[in-house]
Amino acid sequence: MSEAVALAHPNFALSKYWGKRAGPGNFPAVPSLSLTVAGFTTRTRVRFDASRSFDHVVLDGQEANGRTRSRVVDLLDRLRRAVGEERSAEVISRSDFPVASGLASSASGFAALALAAVHALDLDWDESRVSDLARRSSVSAARSVFGGFVELTEGAPGAAEDEMLAATPLASSGHLPLCVLVAITTEARKAVGSTDGMRMTLEHSPYAGAWLEEAPKLHARLRHALLARDFTRVGELSEASALAMHATAIAAGVLYWNGATVAVLHTVRGLREAGIAAYATIDAGPHAKVLVRPDDVVRVAEALRATAGVLRVIEGRIGEGAKLLPAGTHP
Ligand code: PMV
Repeated sequence: MSEAVALAHPNFALSKYWGKRAGPGNFPAVPSLSLTVAGFTTRTRVRFDASRSFDHVVLDGQEANGRTRSRVVDLLDRLRRAVGEERSAEVISRSDFPVASGLASSASGFAALALAAVHALDLDWDESRVSDLARRSSVSAARSVFGGFVELTEGAPGAAEDEMLAATPLASSGHLPLCVLVAITTEARKAVGSTDGMRMTLEHSPYAGAWLEEAPKLHARLRHALLARDFTRVGELSEASALAMHATAIAAGVLYWNGATVAVLHTVRGLREAGIAAYATIDAGPHAKVLVRPDDVVRVAEALRATAGVLRVIEGRIGEGAKLLPAGTHP
């Protein structure tokens, strides 16, 4: 038996990836820049075992089946094909936060899975290869392999399916002090997964072309503001990227927001009018994430808790990349 255990944190995109490039290989259509978030963790153990006849996948204590299982098996198959491995595996994974609700559980999940699977097979792969393996299952997972502020470009147009595309670390966690307050607005799973939401957006939104043209420009400005350590610009551009992504999706009928998501947007505007630098970002789900300076955490968290429909507020800090845990650790 060969096994390894890894942990990874989710990441929240400041400039959003929304839309896949046409053709095979799971390449993003636009570049993105994210923040890896400590305070939320997925732990995954992968064990290749010659006595198994099929892959066994257990997520959060429940045996996975259907599409959830096949996405895990696909990653294992890609790795097995790449290195000539024939054994089946057992995958046990646990996340300490709500999954499938726009809190980036696929990012932390596939980053931890890729790292654990590569090390269970004792492969001498660097982080870029692990990031590329994770990206083939979930684009945003490529970014969770690294800590701090992380960039993923859209790669070379027309790249072949087997061409490598990995995320790269852009700045360390200490580069720009900020916290993310996550306003949880429901305990339910989202109705439309991000892959379907993106496909519907690109196929049906009258603004899809505008998004594909605008997203790289927003990304370049945000990258510049981040490297200049300009918190206000980073916040403004992050909110602009999220609103542009959602406006494009909403025009295709893809609506992830609930009433509390909108209420948080108003709270954040009110805070800014009162002189507090707070900026919202929203992913493929109804929760809102608010970027604030560390000194403003208490005041902003209080305002978010007082917002109608917000169930609770979780504080996230800038986190490190995926890492291995000692053998024998139970997820
Ligand atoms: O990579 P996926 O399928 O988890 O999609 C992520 C999409 C967003 O979270 C909305 C944006 C992003 O860049 O993470």
